[in-house]
Amino acid sequence: MCRFFATRNLILILPMIVIIHPLSAQNIETNYDESKVPAHRLPALLRNSDGAKITTAEEWVKNRRPEILHLFEKFVYGKSPDTPANLAFSLVEQDTNALDGRAVRKQVAIYLGDPNNPLRMNVLIYLPRNAQKSHPLFLAMNFYGNHTINDDPIILLPKSWVRNNEQLGITANQATENTRGIRSDRWPVEKILQRGYGLATLYYGDVDPDFDDGFQNGVHRLYNNELQTKPAADEWGSIAAWAWGLSRVMDYCEKDEDIDHKHVVVMGHSRLGKTALWAGATDDRFALVISNNSGCGGAALSRRRFGETVKKINTNFPHWFCENFKNFNDKEDELPINQHMLIALIAPRPVYIASAEEDRWADPKGEFLSAMRASAVYELFGQEGLPVKYMPAINTPITGTIGYHMRTGKHGVTDFDWQNYLDFADGHFNK
Ligand code: GCU
Repeated sequence: MCRFFATRNLILILPMIVIIHPLSAQNIETNYDESKVPAHRLPALLRNSDGAKITTAEEWVKNRRPEILHLFEKFVYGKSPDTPANLAFSLVEQDTNALDGRAVRKQVAIYLGDPNNPLRMNVLIYLPRNAQKSHPLFLAMNFYGNHTINDDPIILLPKSWVRNNEQLGITANQATENTRGIRSDRWPVEKILQRGYGLATLYYGDVDPDFDDGFQNGVHRLYNNELQTKPAADEWGSIAAWAWGLSRVMDYCEKDEDIDHKHVVVMGHSRLGKTALWAGATDDRFALVISNNSGCGGAALSRRRFGETVKKINTNFPHWFCENFKNFNDKEDELPINQHMLIALIAPRPVYIASAEEDRWADPKGEFLSAMRASAVYELFGQEGLPVKYMPAINTPITGTIGYHMRTGKHGVTDFDWQNYLDFADGHFNK
């Protein structure tokens, strides 16, 4: 009787679940309950694969750091090509009296691949108009085109694929005039300039359009070998390609005397926050790294499986990471690394991790724990990493060589975030 009752109810209940929630399986499975975070152990940060303990900065730099970098390349983001030989820059537009006289604007094209049919990335640069010879700079990618960050009518529109967004009025996968300045609330250009920093930005779709087309568009196809039609299982996905694109902008910065290339901050939000962290880990020319709400595959510890998980991210965005990463769907504990090790790769350079209280999908606590756990490597360099062991109160930035805050509000970039990034950069650049 009892068994019959149970079976009959199962038959009744199961179809109901499927019928009531056909599209929200993702939400049913998502864990937002701290008490249900599975018990887990993080891989040892300060022990070589042969078991030897790392006790000095020299041992870290020589032995453990290369191992960890290699593991991230092989299993998570994929290995990117070296700096290409045939890289060309061209200053396509310049105005020394831009933004009502407050800025110098430059627009630089970076050409990649076959010089007869190159791939072009447009970089927009604003520099303060002051007496200083060269300027420290924030470098950050944007989601919808350079022209969306400010309503300056001279900014070039991207020609590459743009994600449709009805709310923003983008319907034909193309940038349009009426989207000028639509994201200016996230880009306080004037404030950045007033504080003495320049700002450089490029549209991430110029490097690799953000959809899964088997890597036929964007930079990947330029660097396949003769036998390849797409990257191998341990080669670059889109996040690694975007990070590689940021390094190409850095190549330009090194050549522009108006830019203080020793003080370039790489910053990114969300998927571009993951990108900024990988750019900072792979390219030590970035003096300071900022991850805004980067979550899974960014700052958050994936072993916690809180909010977005490895399986969810690989299913929804199959092109972001390398193919090998999919072997860890629902197997986070088998990853030989975890995301605190990504932050540690940036040591001893300053890094700031920011979370938002309502952005539970990105697991704020997991982002904080990563920042905290990476501190051990900063300590090898005689620096204080993150100066606290417990999550700070809301809207209370904590800054050592690692910085962290969790602000009120949702997933996004706010004035509060920028204020703290500018203060953090000032502190570390002795401004
Ligand atoms: C999705 C994705 C996140 C990502 C975010 C974004 O929410 O699941 O991993 O950070 O998009 O880039 O906006």
